[in-house]
Amino acid sequence: QELQLNLEQIEKGGYDHFMLKEIYEQPSVIKDTYRGRLLVNDGIIKMSGVDDNLEKFLNAKRILIVACGTSWHAGLVAEYIIEEFSRIPVEVEYASEFRYRNPIINKDDVVIAISQSGETADTLAAIKLAKENGAFVFGVCNVVGSSISRETHAGAYTHAGPEIGVASTKAFTTQITILTLIALRLAKAKGTMSNSDYQRYLLELELIPEKVQEALLTNDVTKQIAEIYKDATNCLYLGRGYNFPVALEGALKLKEISYIHAEGYPAAEMKHGPIALIDEHMPVIVIAPNKGHYDKVVSNIQEIKSRSGKIIAVVTKGDTQVKELADHVIEIPEATEALTPLLTTIPLQLLSYHIAVLRGCNVDQPRNLAKSVTVE
Ligand code: AGP
Repeated sequence: QELQLNLEQIEKGGYDHFMLKEIYEQPSVIKDTYRGRLLVNDGIIKMSGVDDNLEKFLNAKRILIVACGTSWHAGLVAEYIIEEFSRIPVEVEYASEFRYRNPIINKDDVVIAISQSGETADTLAAIKLAKENGAFVFGVCNVVGSSISRETHAGAYTHAGPEIGVASTKAFTTQITILTLIALRLAKAKGTMSNSDYQRYLLELELIPEKVQEALLTNDVTKQIAEIYKDATNCLYLGRGYNFPVALEGALKLKEISYIHAEGYPAAEMKHGPIALIDEHMPVIVIAPNKGHYDKVVSNIQEIKSRSGKIIAVVTKGDTQVKELADHVIEIPEATEALTPLLTTIPLQLLSYHIAVLRGCNVDQPRNLAKSVTVE
């Protein structure tokens, strides 16, 4: 028993939980994900799975993304990035819905299947359905030799290393890294991005690990905030544009490890109903980097404040406007808009982790959950 505990402690690298270890591994595993693929000095991206099938991607009338849970959130981020960079239409589907709704699948469709475990039954079934209909299927997996990696025509591994915590963290950021590389590769091939912008993005992406390292410094402030809101019964997460999927992901993290009901929403959608929920008991996490529709997010914050909502805002370092309005601010480094999800998600991972620990929850193995849902 003693040996077992020590072994586990070694595996956790001295962290109290696998989840916390995996949150802190993100700077290094994002580097592992783009190593050999992001060649800044040569000014190119090399991804054999994409390069060998480039025509299929370039001739695709659309890209379908099928996934579940956190991987589905990564797919939503990818929709915004791939469409913005390469102008190829992208549709993101829950694999469990896709497989049963008799979807339209064309031979010139490219399907991207995202799965950390590579064993999720719904995603595997969606892949098989897509293949039966003649589509080209590309996998983004974290487990070498997994069922999904063997079932897909081609793919790219995230190289995040084993993710033990049931709540996915480093898989999410490394999936987004892979999908951003694909979006840039396609934009370059289609000529939908100037070479100067392309080179700028390569440099920006190379800087992400150290910015994630800096974002991890929000650990203490997120722990203080967790102490205040650990007994909340409901939580709202709001984001716009690239950060709308991050709001969904932040809410999922809180739900699955602390058992607090949480909901992610597009910030502008609040006035179409959910704002009725706001009162002095409702913590609202707002993702408000100084990019995109910042001014509109500020007005959303004002709407919440006028209804006594408690505002926890994730802002770009040095922000003053939101700081005036929010009850708490969490500052993250500046980054180009499309790459902000890699940073804004970090404090949300830490916040849900600390709240769950303070509530005495089993962080690495939350109740009712499995790491890989291999059944329907
Ligand atoms: C996320 O924290 C959950 N563990 C869960 O939603 C997970 O993302 C989902 O089951 C998909 O798993 P996969 O990426 O292994 O396919």
